[in-house]
Amino acid sequence: MIVDRLGRRFRNLRVSLTAACNYACTYCVPDGKKLMPARNEMAATDLLKAVQLLQQAAGIEQVRITGGEPLLTPKFDEFLNGVMALPLNDVSLTTNGQLLPRKADVIVNSGMKRINVSLDTLNPERFKRIARGGDLETVLHGIELMLEAGLKVKINMVPMRTQNAGEIIPMLEYCLERGIELRFIELMRMGHLLNSNGFVADYVSMESLLDMIGAVYQFERTGAPYDSTAVRFDIHDKGVFGIIANESEPFCRSCTRLRLSSDGRLYGCLSNSRYQGMSELIELPIHEALPQLQNMLVSALDDKKLSFQGETTVMKFIGG
Ligand code: 5AD
Repeated sequence: MIVDRLGRRFRNLRVSLTAACNYACTYCVPDGKKLMPARNEMAATDLLKAVQLLQQAAGIEQVRITGGEPLLTPKFDEFLNGVMALPLNDVSLTTNGQLLPRKADVIVNSGMKRINVSLDTLNPERFKRIARGGDLETVLHGIELMLEAGLKVKINMVPMRTQNAGEIIPMLEYCLERGIELRFIELMRMGHLLNSNGFVADYVSMESLLDMIGAVYQFERTGAPYDSTAVRFDIHDKGVFGIIANESEPFCRSCTRLRLSSDGRLYGCLSNSRYQGMSELIELPIHEALPQLQNMLVSALDDKKLSFQGETTVMKFIGG
């Protein structure tokens, strides 16, 4: 097992199935940027081999399927069923929900127990402005299907001062009514938001979020797993919400995450664009692949930072 000075190790793997996305959210894609076709994408079987190698070399226990938008790629079904068959503690999915109604049966039949849906607004016009694509009703329908099937649903919302800050309470109400855990993600200085005025104008801190929520609900801070990204709060008798406070209270010191991009690159840290290419390793016999992968993991772990400093990389490629 590879462990660093802070006792950090990789436990939690996030696999980006494709860099393609059917949205172009303002915080991810800069104005006027053309969507590029995804390149050098690995097949489902190869990504599954990579996951198994990482299980052996790093002791991965949890897998999250991300993207891009993971439901967009034809390899989703094969990868999902393959990864569900591996001996893992937990498999989950982060999606923008646009294709959830179409993929609901595949997801439910796979045995997956929980799912995260990214949703920044309940207003159809604002939805189109932020996501620059997709349709709100379809996403809401997808969420209902997941709840009806008994999956645990979390919603990720990125609150932005100039866009959806007025919806912090309505979104919380929508979630509390349905037993959904809402997680506010503090805007991150990634991609075009690094060193930009857009970040300064839109950033909503944990402190101001808690002020806004505190004006309506009483809550207290509650427990979260050791390597959780979220700070969690309990609204008595109503439910729980979380804040992923990258800026206000970074979780870097207990981060156990490792990311595999759809073109086979390993990233040790969301706040570091350094990577190790592992796509060629899967062709090698295991006794040759494993020692090489161990070396890559040592480097990837060394890439972890102590606080979130922002990066030029974007979620679109490496998932959340
Ligand atoms: N800041 C905060 N959250 C972001 N996401 C994507 N880019 C950013 C950013 N710059 C969110 C998405 C998704 C999750 C994986 O990350 O909305 O919910």
